[in-house]
Amino acid sequence: MAFERRLTSAAIRARKGAAFPLVTAYDAAFARCAEEAGIDVLLVGDSLGNVVLGYASTARVELADMERHTAAVVRGSKRAHVVADLPFGSYEVSDEDAVRSSVALIKCGAGSVKLEGGVNVAPRVAAIVRSGIPVVAHIGVLPQTAGIGAGFRRKADRDALLADARAVESAGAYAIVLEMVDASVAAELTRTLSIPTIGIGSGPECDAQVLVLYDLLGLFPEAPPFVKRYAELGQIATEALRAYAGEVRAREFPAASRAPQSDNGTEGAVYSSARARE
Ligand code: KIV
Repeated sequence: MAFERRLTSAAIRARKGAAFPLVTAYDAAFARCAEEAGIDVLLVGDSLGNVVLGYASTARVELADMERHTAAVVRGSKRAHVVADLPFGSYEVSDEDAVRSSVALIKCGAGSVKLEGGVNVAPRVAAIVRSGIPVVAHIGVLPQTAGIGAGFRRKADRDALLADARAVESAGAYAIVLEMVDASVAAELTRTLSIPTIGIGSGPECDAQVLVLYDLLGLFPEAPPFVKRYAELGQIATEALRAYAGEVRAREFPAASRAPQSDNGTEGAVYSSARARE
């Protein structure tokens, strides 16, 4: 059987200087949509905790959550590179923990992992890269610890950000997310680093851009102000559900013509959907 080869981290690194989109994905259905839209780098972000699981903080997300959703995104895509977030608590204690957690996500089909931090996590980045697993770094606002520490304020300390970026680049990261970094500092980082910068709320001069899927599709009511909403799928879903509920209450759905017939041998045909075949 011939397998389609997925985009590699080396190919993503080679995009330095080109503009390219990433988006988060958490399930097979939206992974398919993103890939059909031509987005070939999918991030299984631990924003999963906020937008899908309903937690107030990403700190609640467990490695098992990331494994389940990473596997779903991999099943829903064919060629895309899938980056999986290492959740809070899965890499802080030791290099061994960091490598073990990364291996678990790679076994689910991820092509690389992402972790939050700069100078403080550089040894972890190096350990994971030494084990053969490509790493995306993430500096600026760090959502996993923002709620208990530095907060969600835009980061503009040029020297600290440069030190963080250089540390993870030297440790072997192949790309770096800049979250809510002052736009002029993000532009300077993009000019000086040899690896692609991936901006989120960090201005237009990053190499790539990433957005949280539910924010850009209008499925999450509390999107940050830098997000452009490309659709209002939340409203569309509510309207569709209201229409369905109204039709059930009025006994308009199901119409008699949709009812399964059991007396003329068509049962098999009625239920031969892809779902039933599984
Ligand atoms: O978890 C996530 O969605 C992320 C993006 C905000 C970059 O890390």
